[in-house]
Amino acid sequence: MTPDASDLLRWYDTHRRTLPWRSLPGERPDPYGVWLSEIMLQQTTVKAVIAYYERFLTHYPTVQDLAAAPQEDVLRLWAGLGYYARARNLHACAKRVAELGQFPDTVDELLKLPGIGAYTARAIAAIAFGRPVVPVDGNVERVTSRLFAIEDPLPASRPLLARQAALLNQSKDAQQRPSDFAQALFDLGATLCTPRNPSCLTCPWRPACQGHADGIAATLPRKAPKQAKPTRYGTHFVLQDASGHMLIRTRPEKGLLGGMDEFPGTDWLATPWDEKDALAMAPVLGPWTACGEVIHVFTHFTLRLMIYAAALPAGHNAGIDPSFGTFRSTERAALPGVMKKCLALAVADLETR
Ligand code: ADE
Repeated sequence: MTPDASDLLRWYDTHRRTLPWRSLPGERPDPYGVWLSEIMLQQTTVKAVIAYYERFLTHYPTVQDLAAAPQEDVLRLWAGLGYYARARNLHACAKRVAELGQFPDTVDELLKLPGIGAYTARAIAAIAFGRPVVPVDGNVERVTSRLFAIEDPLPASRPLLARQAALLNQSKDAQQRPSDFAQALFDLGATLCTPRNPSCLTCPWRPACQGHADGIAATLPRKAPKQAKPTRYGTHFVLQDASGHMLIRTRPEKGLLGGMDEFPGTDWLATPWDEKDALAMAPVLGPWTACGEVIHVFTHFTLRLMIYAAALPAGHNAGIDPSFGTFRSTERAALPGVMKKCLALAVADLETR
């Protein structure tokens, strides 16, 4: 039995979530807001995104404002949201759209823009421009795997799930409301068809759901066993001068946390650092206080950082090699989440002095 789009749309009309980037019924969506939200929502929860979305719109009400901003301001505003290549691509994309004069309104043209892949192009095309396409994110994969009782494990099942998801909007009702249909799928996945304990009893698609009929909905989608995450080890040095500024440097543009700021430190290696070897890499001789360890989980590895803090007496902040950074206000730095954790540990120590 094919799921009936009108059942889902009727459910959406009464249960839709109110989200700051979502236009009200009858309102025309703002492509800039839709694009900004979709970039932020890549690999990030709605809950984490809302405050960032609102701050970006306050600072940059239009795509032209964002295009005209210095990149370091954009990175600073993004700091803490993670996956920083998104912020650099966001800025590059804003510049391209400002040149074009407006956002393109087809999937193929959207795909040519920086930071926009298959999912995001379809999400923008459907939500902002009413194109009859189905954006397939993790939520939609889960809904689809359950509806059709697809037991092949992710990630190999991804192309099959995308093909099946594309069948969901073939009816006239779905074709007439592509924007609502896409967002209804997101809401179904986020509120009823949840990863654990799905609320099948109140689901508008329960009568059509093969996974529910087979009693296996909650166990789908199946996943291939994950590779164990490697651990890397490093040491970072939080050095404060007499005015309260900290020694901060900017990471290279390319690579992990590219263009973001950090406290100077050692390389991140596969084995723990010997304390003496690590302290030999410090920007000044010290004395350093060990503040504890920061553990931060990235997509591909877990990072364990030993943190040391020191405070310089007045007049001692000159003559440090510039490769260690410059003394700056932490409030004006683009510190990623892992460095905010390092700062919190060090500040707890520095404040007790
Ligand atoms: N996840 C990805 N895009 C979304 C959207 N527009 N609304 C809610 N959740 C989403």
